Amino acid sequence: MCGIVAYVGSSNAIPILLDGLNRLEYRGYDSAGIAVARAGGIDVRKAVGRIANLAAEIQKSPVSGTVGISHTRWATHGAVTRENAHPHTDKSGRLHLVHNGVIENYQTLREQLQERGHEFHSQTDTEVLAHLVGEAFDKGGARDSAALVEAVRAALRQVIGTYGISVVHADVPGMLVGARRGSPLVLGIGKHEHFLASDVSAIVSHTREVVYLNDYEIVALQADGFEISTLSGSGADFHVSTVEFDAGSVEKGKYPHYMLKEIHEQPNTVRDAMRGRLSAEEATAILGGLNMTNADLRAVDRIVLAGCGTAFHAALAGEYILESLAHIPVECEFASEFRYRNIPFQRDTLVFVISQSGETADTLAALRESRRKGHRTLGICNNVASTIARESDGGVYMHAGPEIGVAATKSFTSQLTIFVLLGLLLGRIRHLSHSDGLNIISELEKLPDLVARTIELETQVAAIAKKYAKANNFLFMGRQAHYPIALEGALKLKEISYISSSGYPSAELKHGVIALITEDTPSLFIAPQDAVFEKNISNIEEVKARRGPVIAIGTEGDTALAKICDDVILIPEAPHYLTPILATIPLQLLAYHIANELGCDVDKPRNLAKSVTVE
Ligand code: G6P
Repeated sequence: MCGIVAYVGSSNAIPILLDGLNRLEYRGYDSAGIAVARAGGIDVRKAVGRIANLAAEIQKSPVSGTVGISHTRWATHGAVTRENAHPHTDKSGRLHLVHNGVIENYQTLREQLQERGHEFHSQTDTEVLAHLVGEAFDKGGARDSAALVEAVRAALRQVIGTYGISVVHADVPGMLVGARRGSPLVLGIGKHEHFLASDVSAIVSHTREVVYLNDYEIVALQADGFEISTLSGSGADFHVSTVEFDAGSVEKGKYPHYMLKEIHEQPNTVRDAMRGRLSAEEATAILGGLNMTNADLRAVDRIVLAGCGTAFHAALAGEYILESLAHIPVECEFASEFRYRNIPFQRDTLVFVISQSGETADTLAALRESRRKGHRTLGICNNVASTIARESDGGVYMHAGPEIGVAATKSFTSQLTIFVLLGLLLGRIRHLSHSDGLNIISELEKLPDLVARTIELETQVAAIAKKYAKANNFLFMGRQAHYPIALEGALKLKEISYISSSGYPSAELKHGVIALITEDTPSLFIAPQDAVFEKNISNIEEVKARRGPVIAIGTEGDTALAKICDDVILIPEAPHYLTPILATIPLQLLAYHIANELGCDVDKPRNLAKSVTVE
C-alpha cells in the first residue's frame, strides 16, 4: 500500500527519494509525490500513475535540495487525483506531510478545522493531519525543531486511527519529523545523513543500520543526528539493528520479474525454513522461537490459524498437515473475521497468525484480539522486524528473504514447510514414534531437490499457459490438502492475469460448479497418486463428458491421467504432507506465464497491494 521515503543529508535528495519510491512500487500505489526543501521554501511535485510520471514531472520542472519527503499513495479516501496525492500542506503552505494509514476521526477534525478557518483542497484524511500539525506549530510561536516535534505530538494526540508520517517545514530547515502508530516506519542511519521509510527495502542500498520505530514514537532527524521520543513526551529507548539482507536481495537479478525470481528461489527458501530446525537425534523439529516447553505444547488441545489472502490458504493447508501429523483439531479463520468474532475457545487453544509481511492490518488486529483474550498467540512471519513478529508471544520465522512480487509465492511454500515442522514437533510429543519422526525428517531433507525438479517443468507449463491464456474463466480443483492449493492457484491467476478463476474441492463440482463447464472453460485438477486419486478421476470424467478442457497435475509415472486429460503435468512423488508444496509450483508458473502472455504487469497487478496495512 502507501509508501514513505524521506531523506536529510548533504546529497541531492531527488535521486534518493525516487530510487526509494521505485523500490516500494511493488507494494501497490496509484499516485506519487515529493516535497523538497530549498532556501526559504519547499517545492512540491505530484503525479497520478507510475513513479516514472513523477520523475517526468520533476524533469519538466526541476527541483533540488538535500532534505525531502516522498510518498506513493494507494487511494483510500478520495479518488486517484493529483490533488489527493501526498504530500499535503497546512494553512500556511509551509508545512508538508506524507502519511500512511487511516485517520478514523478525520471528518470531525476536518469540520472543527473548517470552523477555525482552514480550507481543504483534497478529499483525503491526511490533509487534516497537515493542518493540525501546522496549526499547533503556528500557535506555539517558536520556529525550531523542538517546536515542530511538539506540534506533531499535539496533533497526533487528537487523532484516532493509524499513521506513519513524515513532516518537513520551510521554517525549520535541515530537519524532518517522523512518527508512527500502526503503520511501520524505519529510521536509516548513514554517515552525515538519515533516512525514513515505511519499508527497509527502500533504503537498504544506502544503509543497513536501522531503528524500527515503535507505535507512539516520534523521531526528529537531521543530517548529523536523531532523537526519538514518545507521544507522551518522554525519551524512548531504541535499538539499532542491522538489516539481514543486502540491496542485491531486493533486485531482480537475471529475471524479468520478481515473481519469477521468487518462484525460482524456492529450493533455497524451503531449505532456509528448515535450516537448523531438524534434529535427527531427537527425531523431531526444534522450534525454539515458540517459547514453549514440551509440556506446554503437550497441553495444547486445539489450534486456530488466522491470516489473509495467500497466508489464509497456507493456514487451510496447514489444517490438513497438522491434523494428520499431530492429531490436534485445527480451525482456520480469515483474520478479518476472527478479529470481530467472539469464538468460544477452549482453555488450551494455541493461536497462530500467519503473515509474510507481519504488517497486515487485519492479521495484526487478530493477534491483538487473541492476546487480549489471554490466548498464547504465535506468529509465522517472514519480516523479522514486523509489528506482528514483535507483538506475538513467539513464533517461527520463514527466513525466505524479501518477497517483492505482489503475488505471494515463496512465502507460501515456506509457510507450508513450517506447518510440516510444527506437525512433526507436535506429533512427536503425542503419537509419532522415533522412527516415524526420522522418516519425516528424511523426507523433508529431500524437499529442496524435489522443489528444484518441479521448477524444471517450467517450459512445459509455459506451453500450457500459452494454450489457455485466452480463457475467460478458469476452475481449479483438488481434494484434501490440495483443495487449499486449488484456491491458491485460482488466487494467483486472478491476481496477476485478471482472469476470473475459482477453486473448489473436486467433489463440489456436482453441487453447482459443473454448470460453468464449457468447451472454453479450462479446469485444472490437482490429482497426485493419493488416497483420493480415483475420486479425482471420476470428477475429471464428469468434466470431460461435458467437453471441458482439463489440465491435471499428477505424480511422475502416472499414465491414467494422460488418457483422459488434455494436458498433464507430472510432479515428483512425495509423501502426502509434502505434495501440496510441490503441486503449488506449477500453479505459480501457470499464472505467471498466462499473465505474461497477456502482457499484464506481473509484479504490480492493478489495484493490489503487497501489504495491506489498512482494515
Ligand atoms: C495482500 C497480498 C497477498 C497476501 C496478503 C496477506 O493481499 O497481495 O499476496 O497474501 O496480503 O499478506 P501477509 O503479508 O499478511 O502474508
